[in-house]
This record gives sequence, C-alpha cells and structure tokens, in this order.
Amino acid sequence: MDLHLSDKKVLITGASSGIGAASARVFAEEGADVILSYHRGQTGAAQAAEEVRRLGREARLLQMDLSKAQAISSAAEQLKADGVELDILVLCAGLNMLTPYQEITPEEWEKVLGINLNGSFYAIQAFAPLMRDGGAIVTVASVAAQTGAAHHMHYAAAKAGLVNLTKSAARALAPRLRVNCVAPGITLTPMGEDTIAAMPPDYAQKKLLVQRYATADEMARCIVFVASPVAGFMTGATVDINGGRELR
Ligand SMILES: NC(=O)c1ccc[n+]([C@@H]2O[C@H](COP(=O)([O-])OP(=O)(O)OC[C@H]3O[C@@H](n4cnc5c(N)ncnc54)[C@H](OP(=O)(O)O)[C@@H]3O)[C@@H](O)[C@H]2O)c1
Repeated sequence: MDLHLSDKKVLITGASSGIGAASARVFAEEGADVILSYHRGQTGAAQAAEEVRRLGREARLLQMDLSKAQAISSAAEQLKADGVELDILVLCAGLNMLTPYQEITPEEWEKVLGINLNGSFYAIQAFAPLMRDGGAIVTVASVAAQTGAAHHMHYAAAKAGLVNLTKSAARALAPRLRVNCVAPGITLTPMGEDTIAAMPPDYAQKKLLVQRYATADEMARCIVFVASPVAGFMTGATVDINGGRELR
C-alpha cells in the first residue's frame, strides 16, 4: 500500500531509542525526511539518523529536553529560523519508573508527568505552528492508560492524560491537522525490557492473547500508518496495540 509519505517532513521525539528510532527508519523507508529529536542519547540518535540516510532520505538531529518548556520552544524557534516546515509530528519520548506508590516522591511524580504529559502539551503548542495544513500529530501513550498500574501510578496517570490531551488537540487543531494516539503494550525496547524484568516469566503466555511481546518495528508501522494521509479520516482516536492485553 502506498502511504503517500514521499518527501514528507517528520519530527520524531524519542528517536534515539526503541519505538522512536524504529519509526524514523520506517518513515524513511516510505520516502520521508526525518528530524530525530533526542535528549541524552546522542549516539542512538546518530545511529538512527545514519539508517535514515542509508535509505536515501535526509536526517537532522535535534537535542531537546522535553521536561523543560523553554527547551522545547527554543528548539521550535531554531527550526523556524531555518525555514523548516513539518508534515508530521510523532511524540514518542517517554519515561517509565517502576516504583510502589508509597515510595513515589513529589520530585519523581513531577518528573514522570513532566516528560510524558506536560512535554507532549508543550511540544504540540510549540511545533503545531510549524506544520503544513493537512499534517498529522501522533502521540504515544500506553496500555497502562487503560488498565492503571500499581507500580507506576504516575506513568499510567500521565498516559491517561495524554489520551485526553490527544482528543483536545484534535478538536483545537481541526480541520488543519489530525491528532491521534497510539497506545502500545509491552514492546521489546530498553523501556520494555525493564518492565519485563519485573514481570513473572510466563506473563506474556498467560496475559496476552498473542502470547508474546511486541517488536519496536510493529509499533513503528502502526504509528507511520496513523500519521499517513491514508488514515485521513482518523482524528482524536487512540489505537490500542497491546496483543490483546486489554480489550474495549
Ligand atoms: N516499550 C514498552 O513496553 C512501551 C509500552 C507502552 C508504551 N510505551 C511508550 O512508547 C514510547 C517509546 O518508548 P520506548 O519503549 O521506545 O522507550 P525507550 O527505548 O526507553 O526510549 C525512550 C525515549 O524517550 C526519550 N526521552 C526520555 N526522557 C526524555 C526527555 N526528558 N526529553 C526528551 N526525550 C526524552 C529518550 O531519549 P534519550 O535516550 O535521548 O535521552 C528515548 O529516546 C514511550 O512514550 C513509552 O512510554 C512503551
């Protein structure tokens, strides 16, 4: 299927690792140029950028700390000054910390909400004005937004907020831009491996209908489809990709 992404310009946060890095590669396979945003993982971002270039597309790195509104608006100003116009924004950066709720400090609560929820809002506010009409934003939540999570209550609350933020942004930016959310289940990335390490060894077999964890590539392909003009009638939606962990 032609996803009509040829020559589109995509900005991906969290592009230095896992699902974000895989998304950069899949967008490039589909003919898009990619701005890869990262925080600390410059090496991972550079590797992902090299893959984009190997596929014949342009890649640019953008360092940005999503926990700081000022850093996000400075990054957007930098792109604007360079005359960059975006077609697609993928907000894939995230932080999960596995902590029993009694042990979550105010600092930890604010850090997790700051990156997963506040950062997504500030990024939409800063980058939407740089987007061409007909573009699309994809946020990345989690199955935890639906299920809740005893050992990462802050993360689950932030991701639930992100699902709602997606709906509000879809309303605010319509009809110029579409805004949708992808909600992954456990995926084989550095973040997913930390989660898996805290699970019983037979968790996938017992709790997931597909009886295995997802690959980053499977998540990336769904993100790329939702962002593409082929999904042009979809906005304000959350797409569950959780192997049957939770059905609704
Ligand atoms: N893997 C899973 O099982 C799973 C399940 C459900 C939902 N998700 C969601 O899927 C998304 C991608 O996760 P992943 O598994 O690919 O995770 P990952 O491999 O751990 O990558 C996390 C990414 O977030 C970026 N990030 C973290 N803090 C940041 C900050 N302050 N500012 C900017 N970027 C920051 C990291 O950047 P640097 O490395 O450059 O610092 C990295 O690129 C996340 O939103 C996550 O919550 C993942």
